[in-house]
Order: sequence, then C-alpha cells, then structure tokens
Amino acid sequence: MDYSKFFSEDVGSFMRSPVREIFKKVDLASIYSFAGGYPDAATFPLDDIRRISAQVLDRYGAKALQYGATQGVPELREVIARRYGVAVENVQVTTSSQQGIDVCTRVFANPGDVILTTSPTYLGALQSFKSYRADVRTLEEFGFSLGSRSRLPRDNFALRAHPSQADAWAPPVYEATGGHGCPEQAAPAADIPVKFCYVIPDFQNPSGETMTLPEREALVALAREHDFLIVEDSPYRELRYSGEPVPTIYSLAPERTLHLGSFSKIFAPGFRLGWILGPTELLDQIYVCKQSLDLCPPIFDQYIAAEFMGSGALDANLAKSIALYRAKRDKMLSLLEKYMPSGVTWTHPEGGLFLFLTLPEGFDTVALYDRALSAGVAYVAGSFFYVDGSHRNTMRLNFSFLDASRMEAGIRLLAEVIREAAK
Ligand SMILES: Cc1ncc(COP(=O)(O)O)c(C=O)c1O
Repeated sequence: MDYSKFFSEDVGSFMRSPVREIFKKVDLASIYSFAGGYPDAATFPLDDIRRISAQVLDRYGAKALQYGATQGVPELREVIARRYGVAVENVQVTTSSQQGIDVCTRVFANPGDVILTTSPTYLGALQSFKSYRADVRTLEEFGFSLGSRSRLPRDNFALRAHPSQADAWAPPVYEATGGHGCPEQAAPAADIPVKFCYVIPDFQNPSGETMTLPEREALVALAREHDFLIVEDSPYRELRYSGEPVPTIYSLAPERTLHLGSFSKIFAPGFRLGWILGPTELLDQIYVCKQSLDLCPPIFDQYIAAEFMGSGALDANLAKSIALYRAKRDKMLSLLEKYMPSGVTWTHPEGGLFLFLTLPEGFDTVALYDRALSAGVAYVAGSFFYVDGSHRNTMRLNFSFLDASRMEAGIRLLAEVIREAAK
C-alpha cells in the first residue's frame, strides 16, 4: 500500500537523527562509544529515588498518580523558582528540554520564519526547527562567531532581506550590510523577521565551548536592536568543572529570553523533566500549546524531582557528578594529547559532556565512520551539527559515558583509525 498520501507536508521536513541511527546499528556495550550524550549511570541517585518515591506515595497517595496542572505541580515550580531566583509564575515545567525547544518553535515560528542559531548547534534543535519548516540561519553568516573563532558583530550588523521575498515567506535572499558579501546593486532591503535566536551558552553540545560575557551582551544588544527573542538552552550549566560561571542570558535580558533547563544531566534523563523560565505573557502561550501536547508533565516524576531538588539531595549528588565528570574530562584531554596524531586539535570544555575534534583539512569524518565502527569505536560526525552540513573534518566526542580504561582503549583505536586514513 502507498502510505505517502497520508502524510502531512511537515513530514517532508523531518530530519532523522544520525545519532539515534547509530544506536540502531550497533550494540553500544559491544563497542567504545563516544557517540551518545549519555550521563554516566553511576550518577543516577538510585537510593534517593527509592526513598523519595516511597515518601511521595505516603505523602500524596493517589494524587501522585492523577493528572495535574499543565504548568507543572506547584511544589516543583516553587523549588525551581527558589533555586533560580525567579517568581513561580515565570516557571513552566516541561516534559524535558527537548520539548521546551519544540514548544518554543511551535509557538513562535511560522513556516519560513527565520530562526538564528550558532554553527555548530544542537542537532535536536535543528530537528525541531526543520519540522516546523523554519528558515534556519546562522549568526556566523552575519559576522558573529562564538568560541575559539570569537568575533562580535560589527556596529552596523543588520539582518536584511529583500522585501518581496520577505513578504512571500519563501526562504529570502540574505545579505549583511557593511560589505559582508553584499551585492553591489542590492535592491532595497528590509529587516528579516527573525523570531528568535537559539543558543546553548554553557558547554555547548556539540563544541563544549562557553559564550563569554561580552558575547552574551552582544547577543542581547542585537536582540533588542532587531527585536527578536532569545531561547537559551542550558541543560549543562550546572556541570561546571573549572573556570567561573558566566551570567545567564536570561539574567541579562529577562524580558525577551526563554531559559530552558533540564533534569536530564543533573538527575536522570529517564524522568523526562525540564523547565522554561520566561516572561508570563510568553509562558501563557506555551502553556496553551502544551495542553495539546501532553496535558501535563508526568506527575509522579515531578513530585520526586521536587523533593530531590528541594531537600538538598540534588546538590549533594551534583557535587559527586561534577567530581566524576571533571576526572573524566581531564582523562579524555590527556588521552587525546597522548594518542592523537599531530594536526588534530580539540576544544577544552570547562564543563558539560562533550568536546569537539578538528582533523586536518581533507579528512571526511562521515566517510570515515563505517571504518571506525568496524574497528569498534563510535563518534558523531561534526558536520551533522552544522546547518549547511559543512566542516566534514570535525567530530563530537562524549566523555561522560565510558569508564577510564574503556575511554583509553577507545581513544587509542580512534587515533589509529585517523592515522590509517591519513595514509
Ligand atoms: C543542548 C541540548 N538541549 C536539549 C537536550 C535535550 O535534553 P532533554 O533530555 O532535557 O530533553 C540535549 C540533550 O542532549 C542537549 O544537548
């Protein structure tokens, strides 16, 4: 039977995650996998969860298993509000931060609207943006680069589109003013209707890099000047192993920022819980949208998370996780130093779960992938995180999942695969 006529037009824009395709192909336990973003299972607080689950059932009884408020249970909203210094009405609980990204895209972006992001950026966000047929553009196109290639926007930074195209909702022709690839005889231009800029300022997935304060301030200035929102996705913010915290973008511009948080990396991803901090007027539309998505986040999970966060158990567990991940990050950096051939470089993250490798020009990590897998080691090709699929000589490596000895065996293998490919 031909099912194709049943699918909506949106389906044509859905992107399959190459990371999840990798998981389908191989048994993770049988290879050295640097591919996923899995936390170390040793950080999951099994004893706390066992104890708190019983407490929640005793305290709330059947209420813990009933439907609940779409905004999240008051107990969880209150502890999140207290922890992050905001009012309860500025907190919406989500069924994970992936849902936070998706719901923001659904609420703010029409097909063809521009969403700005960095290059590279989080693959799961690209999947959401594309599924709503947004026009995903990069800050870099307009002279604003982050991380190791940091470059702040010029004074005359402007996002411009030809009005005829901007009106038609077709992907417009873009130009940056100030001679940045601007044609000599450009037609009169209008501001592009950018809806929001999506960034992961702390220990980015995939690069591991962190936006500096001047970069955050420049982004806020740009958003105010061009009147767009900022979606600040921060699932790794509390996993800092060195250096000093940088203020959140939300603290710099609470009137136009939606800050997404997640329990996945600081508690357990299986709980599928996150939150959005933002202006009440924006959260109200997100609340209505969420009614049709899942009615409410999982109630039992929320009560457990509220107790875990509010009682101090989260901070105790976080301190242990940070110590474990710091050692893993340091191990990974020293292994790369020890085994990688010359010409390979990598980022030095101050937190999070990933670092990003750049191989010499001419390497193709997509083509290299099957060879690496047959040798028994997995990574994610870096080009999957670029909006235009460029940077085929890069790869993302996760350092949280494998233990030290498997990490060493895996990095040694990966270095051999790269050395072989250079011959
Ligand atoms: C940057 C970023 N945002 C969101 C997510 C999704 O996390 P969650 O488990 O909260 O849906 C991830 C997961 O790896 C991520 O790296």
